[in-house]
Amino acid sequence: MNKKKIALIMGTRPEAIKMASIIYALKQRSSDIDTVVIATAQHRQMLDQVLSLFNIVPDIDLDLMRPNQSLNDLTCSVLQLMQKTLEDVKPDLLMVQGDTTTVFAASVAAFYLKIPVAHVEAGLRSHDLYNPFPEEANRRLTSVLAQIHLAPTPLAKEKLLNEGVNEENIFVTGNTVVDAMSTLLDAPFSFQGSPIENLPLSQHRVILVTSHRRESHGEDLKNTCLALKGIVQRFPDVIIVYPVHLNPNVRKTVMEILSDAERIALTEPVDYLCFLNLMRNAHLIVTDSGGVQEEAPTLKKPLLVLRKLTERPEAFNAGLSKIIGTSTQKIIDEISLLLTDDKAYQAMIGNNPFGDGKASERIAELVCRWAKNQKPLLQYENEFKS
Ligand code: UD1
Ligand code: UDP
Repeated sequence: MNKKKIALIMGTRPEAIKMASIIYALKQRSSDIDTVVIATAQHRQMLDQVLSLFNIVPDIDLDLMRPNQSLNDLTCSVLQLMQKTLEDVKPDLLMVQGDTTTVFAASVAAFYLKIPVAHVEAGLRSHDLYNPFPEEANRRLTSVLAQIHLAPTPLAKEKLLNEGVNEENIFVTGNTVVDAMSTLLDAPFSFQGSPIENLPLSQHRVILVTSHRRESHGEDLKNTCLALKGIVQRFPDVIIVYPVHLNPNVRKTVMEILSDAERIALTEPVDYLCFLNLMRNAHLIVTDSGGVQEEAPTLKKPLLVLRKLTERPEAFNAGLSKIIGTSTQKIIDEISLLLTDDKAYQAMIGNNPFGDGKASERIAELVCRWAKNQKPLLQYENEFKS
């Protein structure tokens, strides 16, 4: 019998982080299936940081990032290049992860060629098309095109069911980011040689910050930066570490407001191992990132989310995060509370609801069963229960 060929695509830093353990688990099953790894390279440097950390060499690299790319241009490039790529590779299944333009456009390209799509991290919903933008739409559109929906949590499955997705095609796997973390957190690590090496972390309480979302560019990001300045002025024992995303719309605002601020360290994006260890050393994490919302509870760190709402409410529902928006005063108030009230701080530490470190194994097993036409692809008792 011919082995089925599974193509896995990734464009950005978080997709690569969350696909890495799936690629590994599928390659372990090379007697059952063939895998082809495709990078659109919607991100270049930030994707390469992850690929080199996990020793992933894409079979095909479309190298399509352009400076300050527009959503339309990026979508057109992915669609055009993926047509030829999929025609050449002829995969039996395309696996996509998350909510980026790469995910949405590659799913459309596969659909037009009648190649089935498996969507990892399916079913996250904020129910507001403009928050996060364009990711909420990318996810919903991908759900319409996908045939296999790999929901990370029971809540994500529920959202898909509410939209009429057939239950037979939804599988709760846990989030693969927990798998990526568990493979790296045991590795020996030192900040030496990283952009963090000279920072006086041990003498301060560290607040780790990231913010990059399109809907926050401009005024909201400016408000956040002003709040950070206010915090270091008020708390002399605090140092803020902010690895700044390479999107030029982020860098312009952040550099303008914060480049001279005392005890605010703006760094280049750090590699994932370094970032995990920064999280581990942080007193508190403040972010608008999707992935960081899933990682902070795993490391038992209180989390403040710089958004109006989130498509990942599991941490909030468990009391482990707060959705604080982007008003300067609100950000200052919420950070100050956690810096001064130990009871409030301790109340935000609990067990991670996003995964158990076995998501990639479940997904690989399921893909093998799909390749052999076995049903069900994943037994209910083997699903992630949270
Ligand atoms: C993209 C995703 C977003 C995800 C984020 C992860 C879309 C629409 N957005 O946002 O969902 O949260 O990635 O970080 O898919 N750039 C570089 N080098 C890099 C990466 C980016 O220079 O390695 C610069 C380029 O000028 C690029 C710009 O950032 O044009 C924007 O990149 P893009 O992928 O379009 O959007 P992000 O804001 O990174
Ligand atoms: N991250 C990293 N280096 C950094 C900042 C973040 O490796 O300097 C990791 C972080 O741990 C998380 C992922 O990048 O796993 C999140 O990426 P991002 O915030 O860019 O995208 P999102 O998750 O919001 O789509």
